[in-house]
Amino acid sequence: MTVPETEPLGALEDDRDAAWAAASAAGRVDDAFRERFDAQFPRLHDLFSRLYADRPDGRDALAQTIALAAGSWNARPLDLKVRDAQRGADGEWFQSERMLGGVCYVDRYGGNLAGIRDQIPYFRELGLTYLHLMPLFLGPEGDNDGGYAVSSYRKVDPSLGSISQLTELAAELRLAGISLVLDFIFNHTSNEHEWARKAVAGEPGYEDFYLIFPDRTMPDAYEQTTREIFPDDHPGSFVQLDDGRWIWSTFYHFQWDLNYANPWVFRAMAGEMLFLANLGVDVLRMDAVAFIWKRLGTACESLPEAHLLLQAFNAVLAMAAPGLVFKSEAIVHPDEVVSYISPEECRLSYNPLQMALTWEALATRDARLLQQALDRRHELPAGTAWVNYVRSHDDIGWTFADEDAAELGIDGYAHRRFLNDFYVGRHEGTFARGVPFQENPKTGDARVAGTTASLAGIEAGDPGGEDRVVLAHALALSTGGIPLLYLGDEVAQLNDPTYLDDPVRRGDSRWVHRGQRPRDRYAERDDPDTAAGRVFRRLTKLVSVRQSTPEFAGNALITFHTPHPSVVGYQRPLGEAVDGDPEASRVLVLGNVGDAEVAIDPLTLSGFARTARDLVHDVDLDLDEGLALPPHGFVWLRVTPL
Ligand code: GLC
Repeated sequence: MTVPETEPLGALEDDRDAAWAAASAAGRVDDAFRERFDAQFPRLHDLFSRLYADRPDGRDALAQTIALAAGSWNARPLDLKVRDAQRGADGEWFQSERMLGGVCYVDRYGGNLAGIRDQIPYFRELGLTYLHLMPLFLGPEGDNDGGYAVSSYRKVDPSLGSISQLTELAAELRLAGISLVLDFIFNHTSNEHEWARKAVAGEPGYEDFYLIFPDRTMPDAYEQTTREIFPDDHPGSFVQLDDGRWIWSTFYHFQWDLNYANPWVFRAMAGEMLFLANLGVDVLRMDAVAFIWKRLGTACESLPEAHLLLQAFNAVLAMAAPGLVFKSEAIVHPDEVVSYISPEECRLSYNPLQMALTWEALATRDARLLQQALDRRHELPAGTAWVNYVRSHDDIGWTFADEDAAELGIDGYAHRRFLNDFYVGRHEGTFARGVPFQENPKTGDARVAGTTASLAGIEAGDPGGEDRVVLAHALALSTGGIPLLYLGDEVAQLNDPTYLDDPVRRGDSRWVHRGQRPRDRYAERDDPDTAAGRVFRRLTKLVSVRQSTPEFAGNALITFHTPHPSVVGYQRPLGEAVDGDPEASRVLVLGNVGDAEVAIDPLTLSGFARTARDLVHDVDLDLDEGLALPPHGFVWLRVTPL
């Protein structure tokens, strides 16, 4: 990297001229880019001024970022520019009822990229429109946190394939109507990344790429207020280098946090982001967003600058790859989760609260916390959507707000302990067969790992197991946004304890739910005498109903209360339809998390016309007769409000 001339940020016009000059020097710039530059530059300038006001080289870092964006736009393949235009015309493509996400590891599910390509017909059969491939870039040999320690964002792990195979796969997926989702792991790199090696060696331009301290003074000061994320790996937020210095490592000791207080780090990562964009990625999953900015005396999570940085990345994207959207991965307090969701930051976000509370409700047989979350924490800004999931490749953490729980007389701390005990099989009578993840004896904190089928009771042979799997998916498929399926769950994949025999994976219990593609269960998927077959048939039916039910598009949700604590209820209106529109149909969803049948009386349903359509069974129901919700049962009813 050339050592920049130093010039701080100044007036908008001067800095704009400097940036445009840098962009023009880097090559031809077309009108389309100029237009977007004009639209985005003031925003990016403002963000840079707020983030990097005290940097003597702020103007140069900004100008070089623009030059990078211009170069990337020039290099963007034509078919992706066409895609940008389509996405621009339909900015809310991800709100469609046809959306269905899938997620898998390339090696575990397909062996390699060629194997994933061979699965495209199956993905189509399933109805996928979005495929998240877990990190597939070059990482350290042995443990690399399942790919979340990246040594180069420009090289595919050679055991999985090559960049050209990835580009071809993206194009084939696009033809099949499936958007490719990849991670943007921008909080940290692996300790083997070129930047990491140069930083440790003190190479000019790289000394400040990471947060390195000569002794424990600053680490001790920061650790007064930071929390331990992976306490099984190392205490606190720092690890020691061979030369005795200390480096910031929020996650594993081989994942070093980047120093975004240095604008050249922003510029460098923007370059990696645009490289991914030009491969044909549609959605970037913004990994570990909450951690990207640090300030002494704070938790160093979700600081205001983290938002400014996301906005700045967003502005760069809007100039050079405008069809892409960000998906936020913030597994934090629900107030913080929503703070990342907006058209200016992330249009999509995981919904960890709904995920965790679905499991909470199944354990307690009480849906009130889940209902409360749907009532008051579901709404999102226009133009954004949730990604709703039953489980992911990560652990389940109980991220509900203590203040919400307290309103229902629930003590958050004790409740989390109960839930952990329940799901790791320590609670008497539990149906779950999970395992603990990152239990911290100092704080009593822990999280849970396990596949959906094992957590829901199928592994334990509980009679309600299959129903719970289907019910959990029926909720994720119907609350709004993009439902995301962990591939393998549709055939009731069980825990894989063999990770314990693998010295690299033994220490990370999340591998229990990241087994290989379960061939035997896929072979049984048409056999109704097997759990795999029954779950597959029921889930694929739900997917096909969802994809032909326009009420399930978007995020609008009108709550619906019954007098039964084990029942969660909500209505999905057609479009923006609101109360009182006589023409409007809605889909009423009622789910029973309890072990006993619940009778919903006609009075509770008296706000609707008498005839309702059961969408899953394709029959009409007479609401004068009330409704019987079986244990762990649910209905999707098309109703007409009176
Ligand atoms: C995210 C990933 C998780 C990983 C961590 C560190 O939370 O989902 O799997 O361990 O980031 O990159």
